[in-house]
Amino acid sequence: MAYVVTENCIKCKFTDCVDVCPVDCFREGPNFLVIDPDECIDCTLCVAECPAEAIFSEDDLPAEQAHFITLNAELAKSWPAIVERKDPLPDANEWVGVKDKLDQLVR
Ligand code: SF4
Ligand code: F3S
Repeated sequence: MAYVVTENCIKCKFTDCVDVCPVDCFREGPNFLVIDPDECIDCTLCVAECPAEAIFSEDDLPAEQAHFITLNAELAKSWPAIVERKDPLPDANEWVGVKDKLDQLVR
């Protein structure tokens, strides 16, 4: 099992999650973060840190977010590691909670 970043991270990227991960398994794209499922140790720490409530364990993943399991695994192979928190994206507070943002994802 691993933890999964889901749709509400897109265009927000608050990055609070990065600071608590003990194994540095977050990977960064232009407007979204993913978790490398091969590195995640299921510690649960990142879940409570995300202001967008975008992180779930695979077991608790809402059905409509199931495609994010493969998306995290796929993008983690090509995106670089992020190991320190940074400023959120400029319009993060306007995009948080917006539904159906997948078409905004930049790879
Ligand atoms: Fe990192 Fe733990 Fe979150 Fe996995 S569950 S991504 S190991 S903080
Ligand atoms: Fe994204 Fe939440 Fe982390 S918005 S960058 S998963 S803190």
